Amino acid sequence: MKFKTIIEPFKIKMVEPILMSTEEMRIQYLKDAHYNTFLLSSDQVIIDLLTDSGTSAMSNTQWSGMMLGDESYAGASSWFKLEKSIRDLTGMPYILPTHQGRAAERILYGTIGRKGKTFISNTHFDTTRANIEYSGAEAIDIPVKIENSNEHFRGDLDISQLKDLIKLKGAENIAAVILTVTNNSGGGQPVSMKNAKEVSEICKTHQILLILDGCRIAENSYFVKHFEPAFSNYSYQEIAIELCTFS
Ligand SMILES: Cc1ncc(COP(=O)(O)O)c(C=O)c1O
Repeated sequence: MKFKTIIEPFKIKMVEPILMSTEEMRIQYLKDAHYNTFLLSSDQVIIDLLTDSGTSAMSNTQWSGMMLGDESYAGASSWFKLEKSIRDLTGMPYILPTHQGRAAERILYGTIGRKGKTFISNTHFDTTRANIEYSGAEAIDIPVKIENSNEHFRGDLDISQLKDLIKLKGAENIAAVILTVTNNSGGGQPVSMKNAKEVSEICKTHQILLILDGCRIAENSYFVKHFEPAFSNYSYQEIAIELCTFS
């Protein structure tokens, strides 16, 4: 019998000790948090299944990049490097860096969201929904139904529900359609380029803003390359860049 060994192509050089709690301790932590995982403190958690954020390691080039960082008050060379990398990856001309996704969402939805406006998404991430609802707008999830979905792309947005919602709400009342790739709150499922293109065309026809939450655009590109035949000859970067042209 042949075994295929999959080895991660990197060494992990740094360790961070974790508190090895007992089962009794964990039961008490949960009781004290009223069974709300958001009320736990991170040192009470051994394996964090709530999120993938902040759980991975940085590469040696990323760490050494911090040492080479230029924090000058104006004209910092680190900024120009960041700007160039993001432009190269997304093709977007203007970049506003924020320290976290939720901060970007606070700025964006605080600006375009208000009472009477609707946002539609393949699934709103929790901080996305929170920022939208805080602005007074409503957030509607329309993930594709399993029975209508491509087995490899269960993160798609339901096109027929999108068309119905545009008719029901009126295009002028829809502040934006948000395509989250991968669909993190929908099981981290990927979104196909076919679906993204259709969503984009509908948005263009109705002059509705399309926002791409590219939280996992790299992983999404992996699925597109390997499971969407039209893209098998593209590089991951080319797929990501093409996806960005849809928004
Ligand atoms: C789809 C999506 N949007 C927004 C966010 C918020 O990003 P952050 O945790 O950097 O605030 C996350 C975080 O995981 C996310 O997965």
